Amino acid sequence: MSILVTGGAGYIGSHTVRALRAAGRELVVLDSLELGDAQALLGADLVVGDIRDAELVHEICTRHAVTQVVHFAAYKAVGESMSQPGRYWRNNVAGTVDLVEAVLAAGVREFVFSSSCSVNGTPAQVPLDEDAPIHPESVYAQTKATTETILGWYGVTHGLRTVNLRYFNAAGASSDGAIGEDWTYSQNLVPLVMKAALGRIPELQVFGDDYPTPDGTCIRDYIHVEDLADAHVRALAHLAEGGEGANLNVGTGVGSSVLDVIRATERIAGAKVPYRIVARRAGDPTSTYADPARIQATLGWTAQHTLDDIITSAWNWHSAHADR
Ligand SMILES: NC(=O)c1ccc[n+]([C@@H]2O[C@H](COP(=O)([O-])OP(=O)(O)OC[C@H]3O[C@@H](n4cnc5c(N)ncnc54)[C@H](O)[C@@H]3O)[C@@H](O)[C@H]2O)c1
Repeated sequence: MSILVTGGAGYIGSHTVRALRAAGRELVVLDSLELGDAQALLGADLVVGDIRDAELVHEICTRHAVTQVVHFAAYKAVGESMSQPGRYWRNNVAGTVDLVEAVLAAGVREFVFSSSCSVNGTPAQVPLDEDAPIHPESVYAQTKATTETILGWYGVTHGLRTVNLRYFNAAGASSDGAIGEDWTYSQNLVPLVMKAALGRIPELQVFGDDYPTPDGTCIRDYIHVEDLADAHVRALAHLAEGGEGANLNVGTGVGSSVLDVIRATERIAGAKVPYRIVARRAGDPTSTYADPARIQATLGWTAQHTLDDIITSAWNWHSAHADR
């Protein structure tokens, strides 16, 4: 009995692989390494290949007696998804269909999918729960919503049980500094704040300070990557015990503003974060954070890390690996 982890050499995947191994689970990673780093696997079993290679996927499932899949492999850049939509439909949606068909043929019926709170678009109210309307506002978000629907239909047609984990803003690095986020392509706030604090960019752009929030900047739910990893360990255990598929929001329930993140970084790093307020960016919701009640009830999961833990681990990681 083992787990196939697609995209396991990526940011969230590598932290999850580590948590699964720490929990004593057998696993094999399938990653193209297009955006992943084999070193981040810390010696876990890796097959370099594509999720769309049905023969390879079937062969891995048979050779490793795979009974469960965690599916991280996807593209995730919202802006790029609007300029190159075909790349996203093909990899995120069609790629998942190819993967699912192959694992079903090998007898797998338990699936954990990396979804996103972006399936809800701009929330009408916060905290955001799982019953909020599905309203994607980008091709990327639509690929996640469409994939959730497709996985649901594989439940009807083939008995696939899927936990869709809808992540909020993944951030931070491992607490021991062993692995972290590659900031080369990331447009996420925390790596950009770190770049500014380390002098790798002249200044951080803050998109708008006139939102109706206490300090005028947007509010998000930053979730430590090790807490996210733990949610996957629990989701797999839930499915192995016969638990039903579910949509689960994975967030702390606490919103932090852009200025909160900047101030926490300046305090923890003891370094200035140069920033400039610029115009609002189209499509940025004012405020979004999770209602974590359902994941708590279903998986017994609650976030263990605070924003300070996120900033401390990210600072330790990026200041030691300023080349990536
Ligand atoms: N990072 C976030 O804040 C966030 C939030 C919500 C959802 N997600 C989702 O979580 C998942 C993981 O995100 P991440 O931040 O770790 O991204 P990442 O880019 O670091 O990891 C993705 C991995 O998938 C691999 N990959 C991509 N396409 C592949 C293919 N066709 N075959 C094999 N491997 C392939 C890449 O090489 C990479 O290692 C993605 O599905 C992403 O959409 C991420």
